[in-house]
Amino acid sequence: MDAHEVRQAFVDLLVERGHVLITRSPLVLRDDPTTLFTGSGMQPLLPYLLGADHPDGTRLCDVQPCLRAQDMDDVGDNRHTTFFEMLGNWSLGDYSKAEQIPLVWHFLTDVVGLEPDRIYVSAFIGDPERGIPRDDESAAIWKRLFIEKGISSDSIDLGTEEHGNEVGNGGARIAFYGHKNWWSRAGGPDAMPVGDPGGPDSEIFYHFPQVEHDTRFGRFPHQNSDGGQYLEIGNSVFMMFRRTEDGFAELPRHNVDFGGGLERIAAASVDSPDVYRISLLRPTVERLEELSGKSYEDATVAMRVVTDHLRAATFLAADGVRPGNHAQGYVMRRLVRRAVRFALDLGLTEGVAQHIVPTVARTYAGVYPEVAENEAAIIAVLQKEEKAFARTMRKGLRLLRKLGAGGAVVGGAGLFELHDTFGMPIELSVEEAARLDLVLDPGWRAEYDALLEQQQARSRASQR
Ligand code: GLY
Repeated sequence: MDAHEVRQAFVDLLVERGHVLITRSPLVLRDDPTTLFTGSGMQPLLPYLLGADHPDGTRLCDVQPCLRAQDMDDVGDNRHTTFFEMLGNWSLGDYSKAEQIPLVWHFLTDVVGLEPDRIYVSAFIGDPERGIPRDDESAAIWKRLFIEKGISSDSIDLGTEEHGNEVGNGGARIAFYGHKNWWSRAGGPDAMPVGDPGGPDSEIFYHFPQVEHDTRFGRFPHQNSDGGQYLEIGNSVFMMFRRTEDGFAELPRHNVDFGGGLERIAAASVDSPDVYRISLLRPTVERLEELSGKSYEDATVAMRVVTDHLRAATFLAADGVRPGNHAQGYVMRRLVRRAVRFALDLGLTEGVAQHIVPTVARTYAGVYPEVAENEAAIIAVLQKEEKAFARTMRKGLRLLRKLGAGGAVVGGAGLFELHDTFGMPIELSVEEAARLDLVLDPGWRAEYDALLEQQQARSRASQR
């Protein structure tokens, strides 16, 4: 199945099972100041997960475009993207594990056609201190499903990712972890703000035995290893708790929040550990090959970064975000400027948005027509940002090399000049310094922040 087929098949199945398809939310939620972007399907549904009645009932599904700015630095590997679509199904106090887990299994194996014996899962090991039990119920359901297909169903307690990296899963189909199997939008139970919902989750991974485990990420492979053999493709969160001042309270209703990564499921469906080979991303990669005369195999990282970042910036522009110095605008600026930087590695110095936006628009024409409808305006927004940066970037990169030449220590003042004079986002300068093996002064951040603060104070004073 290609990605469009996976998306449609998911919606068709869920609707057939009594779910109402709800419209996607924008990438920037209008009345949620707690996060910059819609980073998961649950954010727009927060009031209903906390107990309010949803007008469409208790069984919902959606396909939610998401943006995770925190993953920007990981883009370049074979699995991370900042923008992605999340396939979601929701039980608001309706069904629970006994219906959810077989439903997802059916979707992945019978509908999408993934090989059952390449699916591995995880479950929550329990948190005795907080009185939250081990999720043996999910594990038992998985075990039954695996046995029905005649495949192994053994389990292992791994606890932490670090321990898993040391001992591996030994091929166990079901692995129990602690905080890795707790889901809230903030992360583990300790990170949750008071009032936020969360709960144990059961995650699903696809195994790529053809990939050699990368031991930089631990001695042995296991479900939650970044070593390349296992790719997380979805999770079912059993959202039962709300964080309180002194612990956790049960929510009035126990919910299910399934999130499936469309790009990753589509990659598994074509047996590719590399998501950039799927039908949603491949056309952009091919366009970059045409424009640069280089092959994806020879310029993999640069092509992935440009492909991901310009797709994300295109959708941000379609949703009304504009590059700027604050909040969402700053993330968008970083995306476009990082794309410009990596396009330079492809020998593309003139800006590529005018070539890439039409490809993205065509790819999504049937699903998100708003991109094609606003194509000219999106190109204009991205091109303006590309041009502003392309003019100064090469001078900035030259200055950085000069600052660090001969092992000289680069301090906060130099990094501030790169930002102030050449428009280099600080994250990009630091990344560039690492690429060039330059030595940064340990105190660079404090010096940089102080200079930035002084500049902002001057600018505020001049506007009075
Ligand atoms: N199902 C929750 C998430 O992964 O975003």
